[in-house]
Amino acid sequence: MSMDGVLRLYFGESNLPTPDYIKQAAVRALEDGYTFYTENAGLPSLRRAIAENYRRLQAVELDPAGQIVVTASGMQALNVGIRSVLDPGDEALVLTPAWPNGSSSVAMANATARQIPHPLCGERYRVDFDALEAAVTPRTRLLLYTSPSNPLGWVANEQEQQGLLDFARRRGLWLMADEVYDRLYYAGSRLGDPVPSILRLATRYDAVMVVHSFSKSYCMTGWRVGWLVAPRDLAAKATELNEFIISHAATFAQKAAETALAEGEEELARMLARLKENRDLCLEALSGLAGVTMPKPDGAFYLFPRIDGVTDSFAFCKRLLEETRVGLAPGVAFGAGGEGSIRICYAAERSILEPAMERLTRFLRAGF
Ligand SMILES: Cc1ncc(COP(=O)(O)O)c(C=O)c1O
Repeated sequence: MSMDGVLRLYFGESNLPTPDYIKQAAVRALEDGYTFYTENAGLPSLRRAIAENYRRLQAVELDPAGQIVVTASGMQALNVGIRSVLDPGDEALVLTPAWPNGSSSVAMANATARQIPHPLCGERYRVDFDALEAAVTPRTRLLLYTSPSNPLGWVANEQEQQGLLDFARRRGLWLMADEVYDRLYYAGSRLGDPVPSILRLATRYDAVMVVHSFSKSYCMTGWRVGWLVAPRDLAAKATELNEFIISHAATFAQKAAETALAEGEEELARMLARLKENRDLCLEALSGLAGVTMPKPDGAFYLFPRIDGVTDSFAFCKRLLEETRVGLAPGVAFGAGGEGSIRICYAAERSILEPAMERLTRFLRAGF
């Protein structure tokens, strides 16, 4: 991180600043007195806005007062959701490669994460249902998956979502879907359509939780606002737990998040168009390179090429950094199934992305 002149594509965030209309909303909120404590489940007006968003984008009806808990980030939603369902000694199944914080949250609850890798079948990652079945023990309580995936860009299709839901129902498990990248989707009928949520398939009686965040779609990583959707009893527990961890997300940040939902579509559409172009630029640079397997990602802002001959992705990334000044994340950081791949975050300016891809492809062609 301290090295000068590095083309940085290892972060998990866009390099775009928070749009002005959101910053202005926060300033207005401060001036309007949103500086006091709020409910532990979040501002009722923000919960209503989130429910309205699900109605409009997903055709899903949620009770804002009973099924939505505003959290101080997606990370916090993962944390309270996981802690609400796991006792010490319990086990959780986690589909990997994945952002490691899910498995770490399981460990923080003194439970064990059993990582189940997505197999790469031809051009697409899949869910290994046989491995899931085989991993269930009497202590298994939860299955966590991420769609769109960080780092794969993989998006669960409806059949896979139904399969995961059926599996969780049959085995009596909680199903937790991390959907923080659902608006960053390039395979819908229109750019801007979200990935269909698992909530479309679940009933209100299913043990299903959804983790979400304002960080990625609205370039609000530093603001720390997210939410959890859960059945009423779980949402009530998560709200109690919220009190003892952080009480609630910053009140004026919640108010600004409300504005993001109400006014954000135009800015989001611009960002998506740019991200899709960036994705295609990187795909074009990498596909066709000997020894590189590059499944086309349908969501998020990452590419996860697998590179023949790489058995230590950390060492690979270190050499790439030292020799070319391109910073990528090693696949091994994302758990089982990640070794042998590298993660490229393409939410960067062209002036960084283009030379970075040129240097990376030269490094790969030279046999590194
Ligand atoms: C898959 C996934 N879930 C959740 C988060 C958490 O985002 P935040 O805590 O900024 O809301 C991230 C951030 O990188 C992520 O990649």
